[in-house]
Amino acid sequence: MYTCARICIKVHFSFYFLLKMVKIHVLIACLLMANYFMLHQAIIPPQNLTTDLSALLEFKSHISLDPFGFLDNWSSTTFVCNWTGISCAFKSQRVTALNLSNWSLRGIIPPHLGNLTFLTSLDFSHNNFSGFIPLQLANLISLKQMNVGYNNLSGEIPSWFGNLQEIRFLLLNNNAFSGAIPLSLGNISNLEKLNLGYNLLEGNIPKGIGNLSNLRTLTFRGNQLTGSIPSGIFNISLEEIDFAENSLSGTLPIDICNHQLKQIKGLNLSVNQFQGEIPSELYNCRDLEHVSLSYNQFNGRIPRTLGYLVKLKDLSLGGNIFTGVNSISTSNLCSYLGVMRKFANSVFVHLQSYLHFYSFLAIPKLHCNLCYVKILCDALLSIFSPR
Ligand SMILES: *[C@@H]1O[C@H](CO)[C@@H](O)[C@H](O)[C@H]1NC(C)=O
Ligand SMILES: *[C@@H]1O[C@H](CO)[C@@H](O)[C@H](O)[C@H]1NC(C)=O
Ligand SMILES: *[C@@H]1O[C@H](CO)[C@@H](O)[C@H](O)[C@H]1NC(C)=O
Ligand SMILES: *[C@@H]1O[C@H](CO)[C@@H](O)[C@H](O)[C@H]1NC(C)=O
Ligand SMILES: *[C@@H]1O[C@H](CO)[C@@H](O)[C@H](O)[C@H]1NC(C)=O
Ligand SMILES: *[C@@H]1O[C@H](CO)[C@@H](O)[C@H](O)[C@H]1NC(C)=O
Ligand SMILES: *[C@@H]1O[C@H](CO)[C@@H](O)[C@H](O)[C@H]1NC(C)=O
Ligand SMILES: *[C@@H]1O[C@H](CO)[C@@H](O)[C@H](O)[C@H]1NC(C)=O
Ligand SMILES: *[C@@H]1O[C@H](CO)[C@@H](O)[C@H](O)[C@H]1NC(C)=O
Ligand SMILES: *[C@@H]1O[C@H](CO)[C@@H](O)[C@H](O)[C@H]1NC(C)=O
Ligand SMILES: *[C@@H]1O[C@H](CO)[C@@H](O)[C@H](O)[C@H]1NC(C)=O
Ligand SMILES: *[C@@H]1O[C@H](CO)[C@@H](O)[C@H](O)[C@H]1NC(C)=O
Repeated sequence: MYTCARICIKVHFSFYFLLKMVKIHVLIACLLMANYFMLHQAIIPPQNLTTDLSALLEFKSHISLDPFGFLDNWSSTTFVCNWTGISCAFKSQRVTALNLSNWSLRGIIPPHLGNLTFLTSLDFSHNNFSGFIPLQLANLISLKQMNVGYNNLSGEIPSWFGNLQEIRFLLLNNNAFSGAIPLSLGNISNLEKLNLGYNLLEGNIPKGIGNLSNLRTLTFRGNQLTGSIPSGIFNISLEEIDFAENSLSGTLPIDICNHQLKQIKGLNLSVNQFQGEIPSELYNCRDLEHVSLSYNQFNGRIPRTLGYLVKLKDLSLGGNIFTGVNSISTSNLCSYLGVMRKFANSVFVHLQSYLHFYSFLAIPKLHCNLCYVKILCDALLSIFSPR
Protein backbone atom coordinates (compact mmCIF):
# COMPACT_ATOMS: atom_id res chain seq x y z
CA MET A 1 0.00 0.00 0.00
CA TYR A 2 2.89 2.37 0.77
CA THR A 3 4.35 1.72 -2.64
CA CYS A 4 0.99 2.25 -4.19
CA ALA A 5 0.52 5.54 -2.39
CA ARG A 6 3.96 6.71 -3.55
CA ILE A 7 3.20 5.76 -7.14
CA CYS A 8 -0.06 7.59 -6.77
CA ILE A 9 1.69 10.77 -5.69
CA LYS A 10 4.29 10.49 -8.44
CA VAL A 11 1.68 9.86 -11.05
CA HIS A 12 -0.30 12.73 -9.64
CA PHE A 13 2.62 15.12 -10.10
CA SER A 14 3.73 14.01 -13.52
CA PHE A 15 0.25 14.46 -14.84
CA TYR A 16 -0.33 17.69 -12.99
CA PHE A 17 0.09 19.90 -16.05
CA LEU A 18 -1.69 17.49 -18.31
CA LEU A 19 -5.34 16.66 -18.66
CA LYS A 20 -7.28 16.63 -15.40
CA MET A 21 -9.30 13.63 -16.53
CA VAL A 22 -6.23 11.41 -16.83
CA LYS A 23 -5.17 12.40 -13.32
CA ILE A 24 -8.53 11.46 -11.86
CA HIS A 25 -8.62 8.11 -13.64
CA VAL A 26 -5.18 7.14 -12.39
CA LEU A 27 -6.11 8.15 -8.86
CA ILE A 28 -9.23 6.03 -9.00
CA ALA A 29 -7.25 3.08 -10.33
CA CYS A 30 -4.79 3.48 -7.47
CA LEU A 31 -7.54 3.66 -4.88
CA LEU A 32 -9.16 0.55 -6.32
CA MET A 33 -5.83 -1.28 -6.20
CA ALA A 34 -5.28 -0.32 -2.58
CA ASN A 35 -8.79 -1.42 -1.79
CA TYR A 36 -8.23 -4.72 -3.57
CA PHE A 37 -5.05 -5.42 -1.61
CA MET A 38 -6.78 -4.64 1.69
CA LEU A 39 -9.70 -6.91 0.93
CA HIS A 40 -7.46 -9.61 -0.38
CA GLN A 41 -5.30 -9.50 2.71
CA ALA A 42 -8.38 -9.90 4.90
CA ILE A 43 -9.65 -12.99 3.11
CA ILE A 44 -6.39 -14.87 2.44
CA PRO A 45 -7.21 -18.32 3.79
CA PRO A 46 -5.01 -19.71 6.55
CA GLN A 47 -2.56 -22.08 5.00
CA ASN A 48 -2.24 -25.38 6.84
CA LEU A 49 -3.43 -27.82 9.51
CA THR A 50 -1.55 -25.84 12.18
CA THR A 51 -4.05 -23.04 11.68
CA ASP A 52 -6.89 -25.51 12.14
CA LEU A 53 -5.23 -26.84 15.29
CA SER A 54 -4.94 -23.40 16.86
CA ALA A 55 -8.48 -22.47 15.82
CA LEU A 56 -9.84 -25.62 17.50
CA LEU A 57 -7.77 -25.13 20.65
CA GLU A 58 -9.05 -21.57 20.78
CA PHE A 59 -12.55 -22.96 20.39
CA LYS A 60 -11.96 -25.42 23.23
CA SER A 61 -10.83 -22.58 25.49
CA HIS A 62 -14.24 -20.95 24.97
CA ILE A 63 -16.10 -24.01 26.25
CA SER A 64 -17.06 -23.45 29.86
CA LEU A 65 -18.67 -26.83 30.45
CA ASP A 66 -17.91 -30.25 28.94
CA PRO A 67 -19.54 -32.60 31.45
CA PHE A 68 -18.72 -35.81 29.54
CA GLY A 69 -15.13 -34.89 28.68
CA PHE A 70 -15.61 -35.13 24.92
CA LEU A 71 -12.90 -32.50 24.45
CA ASP A 72 -10.40 -34.21 26.76
CA ASN A 73 -8.22 -35.51 23.96
CA TRP A 74 -8.31 -32.22 22.05
CA SER A 75 -4.69 -31.31 22.76
CA SER A 76 -1.66 -30.42 20.66
CA THR A 77 0.04 -33.66 21.71
CA THR A 78 -2.32 -35.71 19.55
CA PHE A 79 -3.05 -35.51 15.85
CA VAL A 80 -5.93 -33.09 15.19
CA CYS A 81 -7.60 -35.36 12.68
CA ASN A 82 -7.87 -38.05 15.35
CA TRP A 83 -9.71 -35.84 17.84
CA THR A 84 -13.24 -36.78 18.78
CA GLY A 85 -15.77 -35.08 16.51
CA ILE A 86 -13.21 -34.00 13.88
CA SER A 87 -12.91 -35.21 10.31
CA CYS A 88 -10.20 -34.25 7.86
CA ALA A 89 -9.89 -34.53 4.12
CA PHE A 90 -7.44 -37.24 3.18
CA LYS A 91 -5.84 -35.20 0.44
CA SER A 92 -5.66 -31.66 1.80
CA GLN A 93 -5.09 -32.80 5.41
CA ARG A 94 -7.37 -30.04 6.61
CA VAL A 95 -10.35 -30.16 8.94
CA THR A 96 -13.50 -30.59 6.89
CA ALA A 97 -16.14 -31.60 9.42
CA LEU A 98 -16.91 -30.74 12.99
CA ASN A 99 -19.63 -32.74 14.71
CA LEU A 100 -20.21 -31.97 18.37
CA SER A 101 -23.87 -32.82 18.29
CA ASN A 102 -25.44 -33.63 21.67
CA TRP A 103 -22.30 -33.28 23.79
CA SER A 104 -23.95 -31.07 26.46
CA LEU A 105 -21.36 -28.37 25.82
CA ARG A 106 -21.81 -24.88 27.19
CA GLY A 107 -19.94 -21.90 25.77
CA ILE A 108 -19.74 -19.44 22.94
CA ILE A 109 -18.67 -19.79 19.33
CA PRO A 110 -15.36 -17.86 19.02
CA PRO A 111 -14.39 -15.98 15.82
CA HIS A 112 -11.40 -18.32 15.35
CA LEU A 113 -13.68 -20.98 13.88
CA GLY A 114 -13.77 -18.78 10.79
CA ASN A 115 -10.19 -19.98 10.12
CA LEU A 116 -11.37 -23.52 9.37
CA THR A 117 -11.71 -22.58 5.76
CA PHE A 118 -11.92 -26.17 4.52
CA LEU A 119 -14.96 -26.90 6.66
CA THR A 120 -17.88 -28.36 4.74
CA SER A 121 -19.97 -29.57 7.65
CA LEU A 122 -20.58 -28.08 11.07
CA ASP A 123 -22.96 -29.73 13.53
CA PHE A 124 -23.26 -28.09 16.97
CA SER A 125 -26.86 -29.15 17.49
CA HIS A 126 -28.28 -30.09 20.92
CA ASN A 127 -25.81 -28.21 23.10
CA ASN A 128 -25.93 -25.04 25.13
CA PHE A 129 -24.05 -22.58 22.94
CA SER A 130 -25.07 -19.00 23.54
CA GLY A 131 -24.19 -15.58 22.16
CA PHE A 132 -24.00 -14.55 18.51
CA ILE A 133 -22.76 -16.39 15.45
CA PRO A 134 -19.48 -14.51 14.79
CA LEU A 135 -19.02 -12.59 11.57
CA GLN A 136 -15.80 -14.53 10.82
CA LEU A 137 -17.86 -17.64 10.00
CA ALA A 138 -18.69 -15.80 6.77
CA ASN A 139 -15.25 -17.09 5.65
CA LEU A 140 -16.50 -20.68 5.64
CA ILE A 141 -17.43 -20.49 1.99
CA SER A 142 -17.20 -24.26 1.47
CA LEU A 143 -19.87 -25.07 4.06
CA LYS A 144 -22.48 -27.47 2.72
CA GLN A 145 -24.31 -27.99 5.97
CA MET A 146 -24.66 -26.10 9.17
CA ASN A 147 -26.72 -27.32 12.09
CA VAL A 148 -26.77 -25.25 15.26
CA GLY A 149 -30.30 -26.30 16.18
CA TYR A 150 -31.28 -26.70 19.84
CA ASN A 151 -28.90 -24.22 21.46
CA ASN A 152 -29.30 -20.80 23.00
CA LEU A 153 -27.88 -18.64 20.22
CA SER A 154 -29.24 -15.14 19.88
CA GLY A 155 -29.00 -11.98 17.79
CA GLU A 156 -30.20 -11.60 14.24
CA ILE A 157 -29.67 -14.32 11.66
CA PRO A 158 -26.55 -13.03 9.88
CA SER A 159 -27.24 -11.79 6.38
CA TRP A 160 -23.85 -13.11 5.22
CA PHE A 161 -25.37 -16.58 5.07
CA GLY A 162 -26.46 -15.37 1.63
CA ASN A 163 -22.80 -15.54 0.55
CA LEU A 164 -22.34 -19.18 1.54
CA GLN A 165 -23.47 -20.42 -1.83
CA GLU A 166 -22.69 -24.09 -1.19
CA ILE A 167 -25.04 -24.52 1.76
CA ARG A 168 -27.66 -27.24 1.33
CA PHE A 169 -28.79 -27.71 4.92
CA LEU A 170 -29.20 -24.71 7.19
CA LEU A 171 -30.71 -25.55 10.55
CA LEU A 172 -30.95 -22.72 13.07
CA ASN A 173 -34.05 -24.00 14.85
CA ASN A 174 -34.75 -23.92 18.59
CA ASN A 175 -32.54 -20.99 19.51
CA ALA A 176 -33.28 -17.38 20.41
CA PHE A 177 -32.63 -15.68 17.06
CA SER A 178 -34.63 -12.51 16.70
CA GLY A 179 -35.40 -9.88 14.07
CA ALA A 180 -36.45 -10.53 10.50
CA ILE A 181 -35.49 -13.37 8.20
CA PRO A 182 -32.65 -11.84 6.11
CA LEU A 183 -33.55 -11.25 2.47
CA SER A 184 -30.16 -12.67 1.48
CA LEU A 185 -31.30 -16.23 2.29
CA GLY A 186 -33.13 -16.03 -1.03
CA ASN A 187 -29.67 -16.08 -2.65
CA ILE A 188 -28.57 -19.51 -1.37
CA SER A 189 -29.75 -21.24 -4.49
CA ASN A 190 -28.51 -24.72 -3.47
CA LEU A 191 -30.51 -24.74 -0.25
CA GLU A 192 -32.49 -27.97 0.23
CA LYS A 193 -33.48 -27.75 3.86
CA LEU A 194 -34.12 -24.58 5.85
CA ASN A 195 -35.27 -24.81 9.45
CA LEU A 196 -35.69 -21.59 11.39
CA GLY A 197 -38.35 -23.05 13.68
CA TYR A 198 -38.83 -22.02 17.31
CA ASN A 199 -36.95 -18.75 17.41
CA LEU A 200 -38.18 -15.19 17.98
CA LEU A 201 -38.33 -14.18 14.32
CA GLU A 202 -40.79 -11.54 13.19
CA GLY A 203 -41.74 -9.73 10.00
CA ASN A 204 -42.67 -11.22 6.65
CA ILE A 205 -41.38 -14.28 4.86
CA PRO A 206 -39.02 -12.79 2.22
CA LYS A 207 -40.28 -13.19 -1.34
CA GLY A 208 -36.84 -14.46 -2.37
CA ILE A 209 -37.44 -17.71 -0.45
CA GLY A 210 -39.83 -18.51 -3.30
CA ASN A 211 -36.82 -18.47 -5.63
CA LEU A 212 -35.06 -21.37 -3.89
CA SER A 213 -36.04 -24.04 -6.36
CA ASN A 214 -33.99 -26.79 -4.67
CA LEU A 215 -35.76 -26.50 -1.33
CA ARG A 216 -37.46 -29.67 -0.14
CA THR A 217 -38.09 -28.90 3.54
CA LEU A 218 -39.05 -25.47 4.82
CA THR A 219 -39.78 -24.93 8.51
CA PHE A 220 -40.57 -21.61 10.13
CA ARG A 221 -42.79 -23.04 12.91
CA GLY A 222 -42.98 -21.36 16.27
CA ASN A 223 -42.00 -17.76 15.46
CA GLN A 224 -43.91 -14.48 15.22
CA LEU A 225 -43.98 -14.15 11.45
CA THR A 226 -46.72 -12.05 9.88
CA GLY A 227 -48.06 -11.38 6.39
CA SER A 228 -48.93 -13.88 3.72
CA ILE A 229 -46.96 -16.72 2.16
CA PRO A 230 -45.07 -15.46 -0.93
CA SER A 231 -46.66 -17.11 -3.96
CA GLY A 232 -43.31 -18.39 -5.21
CA ILE A 233 -43.22 -20.86 -2.33
CA PHE A 234 -46.19 -22.71 -3.85
CA ASN A 235 -44.11 -23.16 -6.98
CA ILE A 236 -41.22 -25.12 -5.44
CA SER A 237 -41.07 -28.93 -5.36
CA LEU A 238 -41.29 -28.85 -1.58
CA GLU A 239 -41.96 -32.03 0.34
CA GLU A 240 -42.66 -30.34 3.64
CA ILE A 241 -43.93 -26.93 4.64
CA ASP A 242 -44.26 -26.27 8.36
CA PHE A 243 -45.28 -22.72 9.21
CA ALA A 244 -47.37 -23.67 12.27
CA GLU A 245 -47.58 -21.38 15.30
CA ASN A 246 -46.97 -17.98 13.73
CA SER A 247 -49.28 -15.06 12.90
CA LEU A 248 -49.37 -15.62 9.17
CA SER A 249 -52.50 -14.56 7.30
CA GLY A 250 -54.01 -14.44 3.83
CA THR A 251 -55.67 -17.13 1.78
CA LEU A 252 -54.33 -20.27 0.13
CA PRO A 253 -54.15 -20.09 -3.67
CA ILE A 254 -57.03 -21.91 -5.40
CA ASP A 255 -54.54 -23.60 -7.76
CA ILE A 256 -52.22 -24.52 -4.88
CA CYS A 257 -51.28 -27.88 -6.40
CA ASN A 258 -51.15 -26.92 -10.08
CA HIS A 259 -47.46 -26.03 -10.11
CA GLN A 260 -44.34 -27.53 -8.56
CA LEU A 261 -45.87 -28.18 -5.15
CA LYS A 262 -47.49 -31.40 -6.40
CA GLN A 263 -45.06 -33.65 -4.52
CA ILE A 264 -45.70 -32.18 -1.10
CA LYS A 265 -46.11 -34.73 1.71
CA GLY A 266 -46.61 -32.55 4.77
CA LEU A 267 -48.38 -29.21 5.08
CA ASN A 268 -48.72 -27.69 8.54
CA LEU A 269 -50.24 -24.23 8.79
CA SER A 270 -51.91 -24.81 12.17
CA VAL A 271 -52.22 -21.97 14.69
CA ASN A 272 -52.04 -18.94 12.39
CA GLN A 273 -54.58 -16.49 11.00
CA PHE A 274 -55.17 -17.90 7.55
CA GLN A 275 -58.63 -17.35 6.15
CA GLY A 276 -60.78 -18.14 3.16
CA GLU A 277 -61.76 -21.58 1.97
CA ILE A 278 -59.62 -24.68 1.92
CA PRO A 279 -58.85 -25.02 -1.80
CA SER A 280 -60.76 -28.03 -3.13
CA GLU A 281 -57.84 -28.50 -5.55
CA LEU A 282 -55.71 -29.61 -2.62
CA TYR A 283 -56.54 -33.16 -3.66
CA ASN A 284 -54.21 -32.69 -6.66
CA CYS A 285 -51.28 -32.95 -4.25
CA ARG A 286 -51.70 -36.72 -4.25
CA ASP A 287 -48.70 -37.48 -2.01
CA LEU A 288 -50.05 -35.56 0.98
CA GLU A 289 -49.72 -37.57 4.18
CA HIS A 290 -50.14 -34.84 6.81
CA VAL A 291 -52.42 -31.84 6.49
CA SER A 292 -52.80 -29.57 9.52
CA LEU A 293 -54.87 -26.45 9.04
CA SER A 294 -56.34 -26.32 12.54
CA TYR A 295 -56.69 -23.13 14.58
CA ASN A 296 -56.98 -20.59 11.78
CA GLN A 297 -59.97 -18.71 10.38
CA PHE A 298 -60.68 -20.98 7.45
CA ASN A 299 -64.33 -20.83 6.49
CA GLY A 300 -66.70 -22.27 3.92
CA ARG A 301 -67.15 -26.00 3.60
CA ILE A 302 -64.57 -28.70 4.07
CA PRO A 303 -63.98 -29.93 0.51
CA ARG A 304 -65.14 -33.50 0.04
CA THR A 305 -62.38 -33.92 -2.54
CA LEU A 306 -59.98 -34.37 0.38
CA GLY A 307 -61.32 -37.92 0.26
CA TYR A 308 -59.19 -38.51 -2.83
CA LEU A 309 -55.99 -38.08 -0.81
CA VAL A 310 -55.39 -41.79 -0.42
CA LYS A 311 -52.02 -41.42 1.29
CA LEU A 312 -53.37 -39.15 4.00
CA LYS A 313 -52.53 -40.26 7.53
CA ASP A 314 -53.39 -37.17 9.50
CA LEU A 315 -55.90 -34.44 8.83
CA SER A 316 -56.36 -31.64 11.37
CA LEU A 317 -59.07 -29.10 10.68
CA GLY A 318 -60.32 -28.17 14.12
CA GLY A 319 -60.53 -24.64 15.46
CA ASN A 320 -61.79 -23.02 12.26
CA ILE A 321 -65.12 -21.45 11.33
CA PHE A 322 -66.46 -23.80 8.71
CA THR A 323 -70.06 -23.19 7.78
CA GLY A 324 -72.79 -25.66 8.57
CA VAL A 325 -70.85 -27.00 11.50
CA ASN A 326 -73.35 -26.25 14.18
CA SER A 327 -76.36 -27.36 12.18
CA ILE A 328 -74.89 -30.68 11.06
CA SER A 329 -76.44 -33.69 12.73
CA THR A 330 -74.43 -36.71 13.72
CA SER A 331 -75.86 -38.79 10.90
CA ASN A 332 -75.19 -36.01 8.39
CA LEU A 333 -71.64 -35.80 9.62
CA CYS A 334 -71.19 -39.49 9.02
CA SER A 335 -72.60 -39.47 5.53
CA TYR A 336 -70.45 -36.43 4.82
CA LEU A 337 -67.34 -38.14 6.09
CA GLY A 338 -68.41 -41.32 4.34
CA VAL A 339 -67.41 -39.63 1.10
CA MET A 340 -63.91 -39.76 2.45
CA ARG A 341 -63.88 -43.52 2.67
CA LYS A 342 -60.94 -43.60 0.31
CA PHE A 343 -58.80 -43.01 3.38
CA ALA A 344 -57.68 -46.60 3.28
CA ASN A 345 -54.65 -46.17 5.52
CA SER A 346 -54.58 -45.38 9.15
CA VAL A 347 -56.12 -41.99 9.36
CA PHE A 348 -56.15 -39.57 12.22
CA VAL A 349 -58.95 -37.14 11.63
CA HIS A 350 -59.11 -34.15 13.93
CA LEU A 351 -62.28 -32.25 13.33
CA GLN A 352 -62.76 -30.50 16.64
CA SER A 353 -64.73 -27.68 15.08
CA TYR A 354 -67.26 -30.15 13.76
CA LEU A 355 -67.67 -31.40 17.26
CA HIS A 356 -67.66 -27.97 18.80
CA PHE A 357 -71.43 -28.27 18.99
CA TYR A 358 -70.94 -31.24 21.26
CA SER A 359 -68.56 -29.33 23.47
CA PHE A 360 -69.73 -31.18 26.56
CA LEU A 361 -67.53 -33.96 25.22
CA ALA A 362 -63.93 -33.10 25.93
CA ILE A 363 -62.41 -35.12 23.10
CA PRO A 364 -59.20 -33.38 22.06
CA LYS A 365 -58.93 -35.38 18.88
CA LEU A 366 -60.55 -38.37 17.29
CA HIS A 367 -58.14 -41.16 16.66
CA CYS A 368 -59.28 -43.24 13.80
CA ASN A 369 -56.41 -45.63 13.57
CA LEU A 370 -56.26 -48.45 11.04
CA CYS A 371 -59.83 -47.99 10.03
CA TYR A 372 -62.06 -46.50 7.46
CA VAL A 373 -63.75 -43.29 8.31
CA LYS A 374 -66.90 -45.38 8.56
CA ILE A 375 -65.61 -46.85 11.79
CA LEU A 376 -65.01 -43.35 13.09
CA CYS A 377 -68.59 -42.59 12.22
CA ASP A 378 -69.82 -45.70 13.98
CA ALA A 379 -67.85 -44.71 17.02
CA LEU A 380 -69.28 -41.23 16.87
CA LEU A 381 -72.78 -42.61 16.59
CA SER A 382 -72.23 -44.84 19.56
CA ILE A 383 -71.04 -41.82 21.53
CA PHE A 384 -73.84 -39.54 20.51
CA SER A 385 -76.81 -41.88 20.28
CA PRO A 386 -78.79 -42.34 23.45
CA ARG A 387 -78.20 -45.79 24.86
C1 LIG B 1 2.06 -24.06 8.77
O1 LIG B 1 2.37 -22.74 8.36
C2 LIG B 1 3.16 -22.01 9.29
C3 LIG B 1 3.35 -20.64 8.75
O2 LIG B 1 2.14 -20.07 8.36
C4 LIG B 1 4.49 -22.71 9.52
O3 LIG B 1 5.21 -22.05 10.54
C5 LIG B 1 4.23 -24.15 9.98
O4 LIG B 1 5.44 -24.85 10.06
C6 LIG B 1 3.33 -24.86 9.00
N1 LIG B 1 2.97 -26.14 9.56
C7 LIG B 1 2.89 -27.26 8.85
C8 LIG B 1 2.45 -28.48 9.57
O5 LIG B 1 3.13 -27.25 7.66
C1 LIG C 1 -4.69 -41.63 14.18
O1 LIG C 1 -5.40 -42.76 14.66
C2 LIG C 1 -5.14 -43.95 13.95
C3 LIG C 1 -6.07 -45.04 14.44
O2 LIG C 1 -6.25 -44.94 15.82
C4 LIG C 1 -3.66 -44.33 14.08
O3 LIG C 1 -3.40 -45.50 13.34
C5 LIG C 1 -2.83 -43.19 13.57
O4 LIG C 1 -1.49 -43.46 13.79
C6 LIG C 1 -3.20 -41.89 14.25
N1 LIG C 1 -2.50 -40.81 13.60
C7 LIG C 1 -1.65 -40.02 14.22
C8 LIG C 1 -0.93 -39.03 13.36
O5 LIG C 1 -1.48 -40.06 15.42
C1 LIG D 1 -10.25 -39.46 21.63
O1 LIG D 1 -11.27 -40.12 22.39
C2 LIG D 1 -12.15 -40.91 21.61
C3 LIG D 1 -13.20 -41.51 22.52
O2 LIG D 1 -13.13 -41.01 23.80
C4 LIG D 1 -11.41 -41.96 20.87
O3 LIG D 1 -12.30 -42.67 20.03
C5 LIG D 1 -10.31 -41.33 20.02
O4 LIG D 1 -9.52 -42.34 19.41
C6 LIG D 1 -9.42 -40.47 20.89
N1 LIG D 1 -8.44 -39.81 20.04
C7 LIG D 1 -7.16 -39.67 20.39
C8 LIG D 1 -6.32 -38.96 19.40
O5 LIG D 1 -6.74 -40.08 21.44
C1 LIG E 1 -23.37 -35.81 13.93
O1 LIG E 1 -23.36 -36.97 14.72
C2 LIG E 1 -24.65 -37.45 15.05
C3 LIG E 1 -24.48 -38.66 15.93
O2 LIG E 1 -23.54 -38.44 16.90
C4 LIG E 1 -25.40 -37.82 13.80
O3 LIG E 1 -26.70 -38.21 14.13
C5 LIG E 1 -25.46 -36.61 12.89
O4 LIG E 1 -26.06 -36.97 11.66
C6 LIG E 1 -24.07 -36.08 12.61
N1 LIG E 1 -24.17 -34.84 11.86
C7 LIG E 1 -23.71 -34.73 10.63
C8 LIG E 1 -23.88 -33.39 9.99
O5 LIG E 1 -23.19 -35.62 10.01
C1 LIG F 1 -28.41 -37.20 23.22
O1 LIG F 1 -27.72 -38.14 23.99
C2 LIG F 1 -28.52 -38.78 24.95
C3 LIG F 1 -27.62 -39.65 25.81
O2 LIG F 1 -26.72 -40.37 25.03
C4 LIG F 1 -29.60 -39.60 24.25
O3 LIG F 1 -30.43 -40.23 25.18
C5 LIG F 1 -30.43 -38.65 23.40
O4 LIG F 1 -31.38 -39.37 22.65
C6 LIG F 1 -29.54 -37.86 22.46
N1 LIG F 1 -30.35 -36.85 21.80
C7 LIG F 1 -30.24 -36.60 20.50
C8 LIG F 1 -31.15 -35.55 19.97
O5 LIG F 1 -29.47 -37.18 19.76
C1 LIG G 1 -28.71 -26.40 28.85
O1 LIG G 1 -28.61 -25.77 30.10
C2 LIG G 1 -29.81 -25.83 30.86
C3 LIG G 1 -29.63 -25.01 32.11
O2 LIG G 1 -28.50 -25.41 32.80
C4 LIG G 1 -30.13 -27.30 31.15
O3 LIG G 1 -31.34 -27.38 31.85
C5 LIG G 1 -30.27 -28.04 29.83
O4 LIG G 1 -30.47 -29.40 30.07
C6 LIG G 1 -29.04 -27.87 28.99
N1 LIG G 1 -29.30 -28.45 27.67
C7 LIG G 1 -28.45 -29.27 27.06
C8 LIG G 1 -28.87 -29.76 25.72
O5 LIG G 1 -27.39 -29.60 27.55
C1 LIG H 1 -7.63 -16.95 13.10
O1 LIG H 1 -8.70 -16.15 13.57
C2 LIG H 1 -8.43 -15.26 14.60
C3 LIG H 1 -9.70 -14.51 14.96
O2 LIG H 1 -10.62 -14.42 13.93
C4 LIG H 1 -7.27 -14.36 14.26
O3 LIG H 1 -6.95 -13.53 15.34
C5 LIG H 1 -6.09 -15.20 13.83
O4 LIG H 1 -5.02 -14.38 13.50
C6 LIG H 1 -6.50 -16.08 12.67
N1 LIG H 1 -5.38 -16.77 12.01
C7 LIG H 1 -4.65 -17.79 12.46
C8 LIG H 1 -3.61 -18.28 11.54
O5 LIG H 1 -4.86 -18.32 13.53
C1 LIG I 1 -29.27 -18.35 27.17
O1 LIG I 1 -28.56 -17.17 26.86
C2 LIG I 1 -28.90 -16.05 27.64
C3 LIG I 1 -28.07 -14.90 27.18
O2 LIG I 1 -28.03 -14.82 25.79
C4 LIG I 1 -28.67 -16.36 29.11
O3 LIG I 1 -29.11 -15.27 29.88
C5 LIG I 1 -29.41 -17.62 29.52
O4 LIG I 1 -29.09 -17.99 30.83
C6 LIG I 1 -29.03 -18.76 28.61
N1 LIG I 1 -29.81 -19.94 28.95
C7 LIG I 1 -29.26 -21.14 29.11
C8 LIG I 1 -30.20 -22.25 29.42
O5 LIG I 1 -28.07 -21.32 29.02
C1 LIG J 1 -28.06 -11.71 -4.08
O1 LIG J 1 -26.94 -11.91 -4.90
C2 LIG J 1 -26.79 -10.92 -5.92
C3 LIG J 1 -25.64 -11.33 -6.81
O2 LIG J 1 -24.63 -11.91 -6.10
C4 LIG J 1 -26.58 -9.57 -5.26
O3 LIG J 1 -26.47 -8.59 -6.22
C5 LIG J 1 -27.76 -9.27 -4.35
O4 LIG J 1 -27.53 -8.06 -3.65
C6 LIG J 1 -27.98 -10.37 -3.36
N1 LIG J 1 -29.23 -10.13 -2.68
C7 LIG J 1 -29.31 -10.10 -1.37
C8 LIG J 1 -30.66 -9.82 -0.80
O5 LIG J 1 -28.35 -10.35 -0.64
C1 LIG K 1 -36.04 -14.22 -7.98
O1 LIG K 1 -35.25 -14.62 -9.11
C2 LIG K 1 -35.48 -13.82 -10.25
C3 LIG K 1 -34.74 -14.45 -11.41
O2 LIG K 1 -33.47 -14.88 -11.04
C4 LIG K 1 -35.03 -12.39 -9.96
O3 LIG K 1 -35.26 -11.58 -11.07
C5 LIG K 1 -35.82 -11.86 -8.77
O4 LIG K 1 -35.34 -10.58 -8.41
C6 LIG K 1 -35.69 -12.78 -7.59
N1 LIG K 1 -36.62 -12.35 -6.56
C7 LIG K 1 -36.23 -12.03 -5.33
C8 LIG K 1 -37.29 -11.51 -4.43
O5 LIG K 1 -35.07 -12.17 -4.96
C1 LIG L 1 -43.00 -22.05 -11.56
O1 LIG L 1 -41.62 -22.33 -11.68
C2 LIG L 1 -41.23 -22.77 -12.95
C3 LIG L 1 -39.76 -23.14 -12.88
O2 LIG L 1 -39.56 -24.05 -11.84
C4 LIG L 1 -41.48 -21.65 -13.94
O3 LIG L 1 -41.13 -22.08 -15.25
C5 LIG L 1 -42.96 -21.26 -13.92
O4 LIG L 1 -43.15 -20.14 -14.73
C6 LIG L 1 -43.40 -20.92 -12.52
N1 LIG L 1 -44.83 -20.76 -12.51
C7 LIG L 1 -45.44 -19.82 -11.80
C8 LIG L 1 -46.92 -19.78 -11.89
O5 LIG L 1 -44.83 -19.02 -11.12
C1 LIG M 1 -48.92 -29.33 13.15
O1 LIG M 1 -48.70 -28.27 14.06
C2 LIG M 1 -49.51 -28.37 15.22
C3 LIG M 1 -49.29 -27.11 16.04
O2 LIG M 1 -47.95 -27.00 16.43
C4 LIG M 1 -49.15 -29.63 15.98
O3 LIG M 1 -49.97 -29.77 17.12
C5 LIG M 1 -49.35 -30.84 15.07
O4 LIG M 1 -48.90 -32.01 15.71
C6 LIG M 1 -48.59 -30.66 13.78
N1 LIG M 1 -48.94 -31.74 12.86
C7 LIG M 1 -48.05 -32.54 12.32
C8 LIG M 1 -48.56 -33.60 11.42
O5 LIG M 1 -46.85 -32.43 12.54
